[in-house]
Amino acid sequence: MRPKACIFDLDGVIVDTAKYHYLAWKRLAKELGFEFTEKDNERLKGVSRMESLEILLSVGGIKIEDQKLKEQLSDKKNNWYVEYISQMTKDEILPGVEEFLRKLKNAGIKIAIGSASKNTMTILRRIELVDLFDSIIDGTKITKAKPDPEVFLKAAEELNVDPKDCCVFEDAVAGIEAAKSAGMKVIGVGDHEILKDADRVITSFVGHGIELVEF
Ligand code: G6P
Ligand code: MG
Repeated sequence: MRPKACIFDLDGVIVDTAKYHYLAWKRLAKELGFEFTEKDNERLKGVSRMESLEILLSVGGIKIEDQKLKEQLSDKKNNWYVEYISQMTKDEILPGVEEFLRKLKNAGIKIAIGSASKNTMTILRRIELVDLFDSIIDGTKITKAKPDPEVFLKAAEELNVDPKDCCVFEDAVAGIEAAKSAGMKVIGVGDHEILKDADRVITSFVGHGIELVEF
């Protein structure tokens, strides 16, 4: 069955921003006096900014109760992150993504972004994809983070499409769970082992046509 809409996570699906998130969190960890490894960074995928800070602090064995201080730290990380992504270019769109998005559009399938990131618009502007999407739901429009289905349900609502006629693309376990609780089909982008709860898993968009979403 062909879906009426496809909803895409941004970080790790459309662009590889995980490396910039990592650089900024690593820099913060260093300032706080500990090392933050790439393996630790895996735990931050799909997780909101504040929750990411909690995980980072737990890795460093640091306990902070003061909410204001936590906000200062996450703002600091975000300022560095914004500095990194402000240099992004269209070349950083992951291989095959733009072609695939255009194939969906040509087939009359609506496309949306469903991301936890409050920096979504900055990134989409940098990679020049804003106008391609029929709806953009980002971290500024939601109150509940994935695995809550809010972000995907809002996208479906804005597109005026029933959740059961939507197919989500996700690289994070929390996102796959969110899509499933929204009653949508979900395609994992990345590692088969990690994303085993998805209906299908791809490692890249290269060479895929709309038959990928017809199941
Ligand atoms: C995505 C990323 C996370 C990030 C979150 C919030 O889900 O996978 O790593 O923490 O967005 O992003 P933001 O840009 O608002 O800090
Ligand atoms: Mg992601």
